[in-house]
Amino acid sequence: MFIDTHCHLEDENFSDDRAEVLSRAKIAGVEKVINFGSTLKSSIAVTELAKNFSGLYAGVGIHPEEIDDFDEKTCSRLAEVAAREKVVAIGEIGLDYHWEKDSGRRLIQQKIFIEQLDLARQLNLPVCVHDREAHGDTLKILQSEAHGLRGVLHCYSGSLETAREVWKLGWFIGVDGPLTFKNSAKLPEVVKAAPRDMILIETDAPYLAPTPYRGKRNEPAYVVEVAKKLADVRGETLEEVAAYTTANAEELYLGTRN
Ligand code: NI
Repeated sequence: MFIDTHCHLEDENFSDDRAEVLSRAKIAGVEKVINFGSTLKSSIAVTELAKNFSGLYAGVGIHPEEIDDFDEKTCSRLAEVAAREKVVAIGEIGLDYHWEKDSGRRLIQQKIFIEQLDLARQLNLPVCVHDREAHGDTLKILQSEAHGLRGVLHCYSGSLETAREVWKLGWFIGVDGPLTFKNSAKLPEVVKAAPRDMILIETDAPYLAPTPYRGKRNEPAYVVEVAKKLADVRGETLEEVAAYTTANAEELYLGTRN
């Protein structure tokens, strides 16, 4: 059994065949899927979807590219949404310096990230963090603001040195399709060094489809391709990878609820 610990099934790319996508996941052995919002509206949508599908769970939060969606009422609205059944995380939240070049708006991203970390602590929920080209500031914020919290740096793209600091905090790295790409750079080195109890697998569907589906719409069933590549890089069997990544996901996201 596998768990896809990060995707976006409320995306309009899935409007026509969401149920088929989830049944294909089950056939592939992906029995649980964690689906993340990125705005208040999509956070509400992921909780509605979770109600309708067994094995589907929700994370709620405001993505760093969506900070214009955030005002002084947002955290209390998110807290209400987080109280719904099958909400297992705050996310995805974090920093995106790839799309945001303005230093003032980057500071706003940081402030909103920290507010949502505080919210996760109040609600006793784990956190799913987006860090794109903002490794230094993300790590700094986790080290100073994430006390008492656990979570994952989803779609990990940092260095091995940064990963070691993340593991020291007891946080996971999330591994996605890019591990299967020919130009996956330093990621194989990072996953080779990762302790077993610090790795999650995810798709980030509809984005970042793994080889051999690269360039197509991604979907939770394809997390098996990420697991196969992980087994290959780490010299493990697919069964071993399935067992420990599932145990890790259960422990982080599903242990305290459901
Ligand atoms: Ni995502």
